[in-house]
Amino acid sequence: EKGGYEHFMLKEIFEQPRSILDSMRGRLELVAGHLNMGGIRAYERKFMNAERIIIVACGTSWHAGLVAEYLLEDLARIPVEVEYASEFRYRNPVITERDIVIAISQSGETADTLAAIELAKSKGATIFGICNVVGSSIARATDAGAYTHAGPEIGVASTKAFTAQVTVLTILAMIVGHKRGTLSDTRLRELMVELGSIPAKVEKALLLNDEIEAIAQTFKDVPNFLYLGRGYNFPVALEGALKLKEISYIHAEGYPAAEMKHGPIALIDENMPVVVIATKDSSYEKVVSNIQEVKARKGRIIAVVTEGDDVIPQMAEFVIEVPATSEVLVPLVSVVPLQLLSYHIAVLRGCNVDQPRNLAKSVTVE
Ligand code: F6R
Repeated sequence: EKGGYEHFMLKEIFEQPRSILDSMRGRLELVAGHLNMGGIRAYERKFMNAERIIIVACGTSWHAGLVAEYLLEDLARIPVEVEYASEFRYRNPVITERDIVIAISQSGETADTLAAIELAKSKGATIFGICNVVGSSIARATDAGAYTHAGPEIGVASTKAFTAQVTVLTILAMIVGHKRGTLSDTRLRELMVELGSIPAKVEKALLLNDEIEAIAQTFKDVPNFLYLGRGYNFPVALEGALKLKEISYIHAEGYPAAEMKHGPIALIDENMPVVVIATKDSSYEKVVSNIQEVKARKGRIIAVVTEGDDVIPQMAEFVIEVPATSEVLVPLVSVVPLQLLSYHIAVLRGCNVDQPRNLAKSVTVE
């Protein structure tokens, strides 16, 4: 049932071209030139007039929520707050019937996310769900929603569910942005075409597997890792660090690259591997400076760059080249090598990657 793969996690990482495509199916209609999302149709007005959106989720789903914050603010110009469900529900948050709450959950059974939904519902907010498991508690508790079509995810560490969530949230942001007039016809069209090419780009990123395994060999025994990214790659840095810590038990932290100088830079010395996600986008030049800062302190740089980058390879110890895409879609591609890196490090350390210690696939306790 692992389809020839050694672990479910690896199988699921490799399924992503397909699961991303499945999550677009019926929604991205390139030939007809439009986007559909059944779940929001009845709430179009609500989204058009939304003054803010609150996203609630936990763990990896919370990281997908952070990507959605960038997307919805960027494309639809709606202010977004991304909340850990567990904090939101216990802190007397301000919620009104004008709010739209988006709950993101792979399992649809996460207790804290479910409780956050119930709280927001009791205040009259409209609840929109993004779930993978059909008929799950969260899917049933929401007013409307859109399923991710990642298929069953068995590995405890979430991989294909994350990219499926980001895919659905991207389409949502594009639809809402277009309806609100903040995303022009031309830009919408460009993004649609680019989104359609993502499965092939993810496929290409998966060809890096052997190269990444060799990098994993170099770093498998280190005690710490730092992950840095800016803009759309900041949530990817967080996700890369989470993947590593949960399956390899190596301590890892994700940071927005510019925050480094406010503290974490003190950690950098010749023993500290620093994964920098440095694709060619609007923060590229700034990330290059951040790499210089790490290098000046002898940190060991592993950089995820856009194919053809000829600057960073001269600075980094290891370079992982991913296909170029639009800045707003980059997490779908840049997260893939980080999933593979944590997978290989964990395997080389002899860890049980599909069932890491102390973790459960769905967290039904508070
Ligand atoms: C990380 C991971 C967890 C889940 C979190 C939320 O790899 O799997 O952090 O993302 O427990 O779970 P769902 O999405 O099922 O609500």
